[in-house]
Formats: sequence, structure tokens, C-alpha cells
Amino acid sequence: MIRVRLFPTADALAHALALDIARRIARDPTMVLGLPTGRTPIPLYREIVRLHLAGRVDFSRVTTFNLDEFLGLAPGDPHSYRMFMQRHLFDHVNLAPRRIHFLDGATRDVVGECGRYERAVERAGGIDLQILGLGLNGHIGFNEPARALVARTHRTSLKPATRRANARFFGNRVGAVPRDALSMGMATILHAKRVVLLATGATKARCVQRMIEGPVTPRLPGSFLQLHRCAEIWLDRAAAADLQS
Ligand code: F6R
Repeated sequence: MIRVRLFPTADALAHALALDIARRIARDPTMVLGLPTGRTPIPLYREIVRLHLAGRVDFSRVTTFNLDEFLGLAPGDPHSYRMFMQRHLFDHVNLAPRRIHFLDGATRDVVGECGRYERAVERAGGIDLQILGLGLNGHIGFNEPARALVARTHRTSLKPATRRANARFFGNRVGAVPRDALSMGMATILHAKRVVLLATGATKARCVQRMIEGPVTPRLPGSFLQLHRCAEIWLDRAAAADLQS
């Protein structure tokens, strides 16, 4: 069963998760972390940076893999997820650049790039802790709702709702949001030893309820976390508002 942890606010959640990550890195300095972008993890990254600057967490031997990247955007593009991560985390902690892994949105060989990423995850020994956000339509990574889901890292078409949600990172111009992305697949995510999905704010409440209390369905990819041995959903009060139990 999915374990749910409730916090009064998004900031309290971010603080608790940053401390949890710092403790785990202290126990296992070579930990492999899977990371999301988006609005939700911003307070978490702020807290992690704070702990790092206070000398309470050392990333020098940690490895990271990000979940996804827009197709067609080079790593240095200001709208790329890579640059988002630079701004919010990578520029402020002591991660070794060679241990930061990202899908290359500018690749000309999509299949080769996806295979390279899968092999890199495998070579790193798999992901120890995968942090996830939740799309308004239930996506995790960029595994969008569909009749069938894709197991491994792949090219995916973004749903109009997902492009609208990302418009804020593109000067509120939906038309500027790429139509396609590269994303870790469902198996890449579900093979992580521990998964923590974060959802905050009232807009996520309905989807959170369906994900935890509804059936496991490719129409709501986050519901597959119900099948994971060690999945936790960390919520603030607003995102938990529709839960029945
Ligand atoms: C981004 C990602 C997405 C987001 C999701 C929620 O790397 O994997 O699944 O986590 O779209 O985004 P926010 O947090 O902006 O609501």
C-alpha cells in the first residue's frame, strides 16, 4: 500500500524531505537520486541548498538523473529543464558535473539517446531514491495518460494540458512550449528502490485522490505507484483535501 505523509504546508514538506535526503546521503554518500523539475520541487531544492550551505549535506559523491527534458532544446537553452536544475540546485551544491545525468533534448538520435540514458542508470546501479511531481492529469515524468504506457526511456508527445501547465516557464506562451519530450519510462521510475511523490496545492487534490484511492490505470500513470514496494506520497493539506480515508 502507498504510504501517505501529510504536512501542514508545502514549506514544511520541503524542509522535512530535505532533511530526510541529507540524512540518507550521510549514511550512503554515493547515493543515486532521481530528480524532477517543475513548480513543486522548488521549495525542496531551496531547502537542500540551505542545508548544503550550512555544511549539513555533501553531494560530492552523489549521482543524479533527471526525469525528462524537452525535445529540441539544447542543454544551455534558458527554457530547458537542464537550465532549470542549474538555477535551482546544481549551481549551488557540490555535485560533480560528471555525476549529473540529463537527457539531451538537442539529440539527433532519439533512440540512441534513450538507450544511452537507460544504460547509464543501470551502470550507476539503479536509482536509490526517485523524487516525483504529479501532473494535473496524473502524469509522472512525462509519462502522459494513455491506453498503454511505455516501460523505458522514450520520446513522448505532451498533452495540451501539460503544455499549458508549462507555459509559465516560457513567458506564458503555450505556443513556445515544445510538443515533444524525452522521458524516463514507467519501469525506469518504478525500479527505483524508493519513490517519493510530492504534491502540493489545491489544484492537485482531485488527482491525488484518484491516484491513491482509485484503480491502477494507464489513464492516471501516477496510480502505478500503488504497485511499488516502497512508494510514499508526501502532501500538504490542500493537496490531501479530497482523500476519503
Ligand atoms: C518534470 C516532471 C513532471 C512534473 C509535473 C508536475 O520533470 O517530471 O512530471 O513533476 O508536471 O509539475 P509541477 O510541479 O510544475 O506541478
